[in-house]
Amino acid sequence: MGSVTASTTAQPTLRVAAFCGSLRKDSWHRGLIRAAEELCEESIPGLRIDHVDISGLPMVNPDLETDGGEGFPPPVEALRERVRAADCFLFASPEYNYSVTASLKNALDWASRGKRNCWADRAAAIVCAGGDFGGARASLHLRQIGVFLDLHFINKPELHIRAFAEPPKFDEEGNLIDAVTRERLKKVLLSLQALALRLQHNKDD
Ligand SMILES: Cc1cc2nc3c(=O)[nH]c(=O)nc-3n(C[C@H](O)[C@H](O)[C@H](O)COP(=O)(O)O)c2cc1C
Repeated sequence: MGSVTASTTAQPTLRVAAFCGSLRKDSWHRGLIRAAEELCEESIPGLRIDHVDISGLPMVNPDLETDGGEGFPPPVEALRERVRAADCFLFASPEYNYSVTASLKNALDWASRGKRNCWADRAAAIVCAGGDFGGARASLHLRQIGVFLDLHFINKPELHIRAFAEPPKFDEEGNLIDAVTRERLKKVLLSLQALALRLQHNKDD
């Protein structure tokens, strides 16, 4: 994790592990993560996005665990390592039947296993795109899951994108093309950065 040094006012670069809940090739949510990567490179030097691909994980199954529950299949070990190494998390997930997607829940479950819940005590943000509610019910459900995982979600701003409302928000390849939504995404990232830094400062005190 990036550490906060007392001798300088320069901010550390925080690693944001980003997860896309959709497996669709032209996913809007993957597009949101790409836009977040660009925003960090262009104008938020204190944040770096590390997109963690969760599409190849096996379905969670305690029978696949070894070493008394501390050993995992290689793709799961790799996931757990990147979750542990992150300073904070960005979740971009569609709403599937009023919840997050099975693929995202699978990743959340795998990295919660073992003696040490890999998610614990880090800042997180969720961004969603969907129909009339903009994926808001998935966002609320993830916050509920985050209670047990000990995630600290930013409360504001919320980003629930009504993807079918005018003007168009995404192109056919899932790229975010709306400047206003891009600015709202930037504000989410800045809020995530502020909360992550606050949590790290509290630990250093
Ligand atoms: C299995 C399934 C369930 C869905 N359930 C909902 C739902 O409950 N509410 C909703 O607004 N959209 C629902 N949708 C639509 C998705 O949220 C929408 O397709 C998604 O935002 C697209 O995101 P993506 O481009 O990243 O794949 C569902 C789609 C699928 C495939």
